[in-house]
Amino acid sequence: MNLKRYFFTIQFLFTALTINCQLINTSFKPGEIWPDTEGEHINAHGGGILYYNNTWYWFGESRLSRSEKDRSRYGVSCYSSKDLLNWKNEGLALRVVNDTVSLLRQGCVIERPKVIYNKKTGMFVMWFHHELKGKGYTAALTGVAVSDNITGPYKYLRSLRPNAGIWPQNFPEEYKKSTVKEGELKSGSNEWKVVVMEGLFVRRDFEGGQMARDMTLFVDKDGKAYHIHSSEENMTLHFSELTDDYLDFTGKYFRVLPGGSNEAPAIFFNKGKYYMFTSGTTGWKPNPARLSVSKKLTGDWRTIGNPCRGTDNENKITFGSQTTYILPIQGKISYIYMGDRWLPENLADSRHIWLPVEWEKGIPVIKWYQEWDLNKLK
Ligand code: GAL
Repeated sequence: MNLKRYFFTIQFLFTALTINCQLINTSFKPGEIWPDTEGEHINAHGGGILYYNNTWYWFGESRLSRSEKDRSRYGVSCYSSKDLLNWKNEGLALRVVNDTVSLLRQGCVIERPKVIYNKKTGMFVMWFHHELKGKGYTAALTGVAVSDNITGPYKYLRSLRPNAGIWPQNFPEEYKKSTVKEGELKSGSNEWKVVVMEGLFVRRDFEGGQMARDMTLFVDKDGKAYHIHSSEENMTLHFSELTDDYLDFTGKYFRVLPGGSNEAPAIFFNKGKYYMFTSGTTGWKPNPARLSVSKKLTGDWRTIGNPCRGTDNENKITFGSQTTYILPIQGKISYIYMGDRWLPENLADSRHIWLPVEWEKGIPVIKWYQEWDLNKLK
């Protein structure tokens, strides 16, 4: 081998090695581009994670990038990982339909997908916030899809407004009888807030079903699953019990934090208490997170403040993020806060803000780390 060729080969190997090394993530770097195993920024926003067969599966909104010409590449993405840092793109688990009649046709909006595993049926069940083509955010539906294979493809079943014709379990008799109508009071006024708390929108939507926008799923210790969503014009959360196969609603549901204006709910259970992270309702713009706690999942939730422990400015915007999921893991760090830093002008490029959940006097809190890993906080 002549010298020139020898040096060329060495240089080539070195470059290949460097490129390859760059693809291997060794720490979490919140807010930065997070390359998957092919070097592309992870396109799974507003998502959640399911641990199955010693592997983590991350489901999220697969947003169309500006350069994407193929509009059918929109839906729910799935990534898999063994270490939570390096993620393989498993493709679209659910994608929009290329016809003119399906509710899931191109142009609809799919947000905050979550997948849970049903032990009884052996099926993976996906629920997501679903808005219809050309209708903005007015439909406020929840969609459901199912697969016997975790990465999909998921079969779309239907979209609906839950709990039509049924009152919440914790809805007093006098609220049912109230005759106050929307429009009689100035929206946002104190009097309006009182009547909203007293079920104005529950009554309005009684026949057609309750609104379902930002959502999450939570499987309780007894295997019962709950669909937790912002309802009543995003003013009140509804905790709706799912049937044993997780494919439908039982009709048993509870209003939580009525009039509290909570979005982006994420729930976890730790040492006898349920914790919930939520955001306020300012669209894509971040706002102060709220931490709520309850001894019973469908009991009396109490909001105990902002879980962020940063500067005032950081706390006001939750380190520039909105909650999407709280991921339970085993180890020194027991939960990870997952949030989205939305970039509405190019949603595919929105950043992932993952931070360790730490405990301060028995309360889960989050602090900012430019870089951290599961063994030690840098
Ligand atoms: C946010 C919500 C997002 C998305 C956005 C649209 O409040 O959490 O999931 O719906 O509004 O403006």
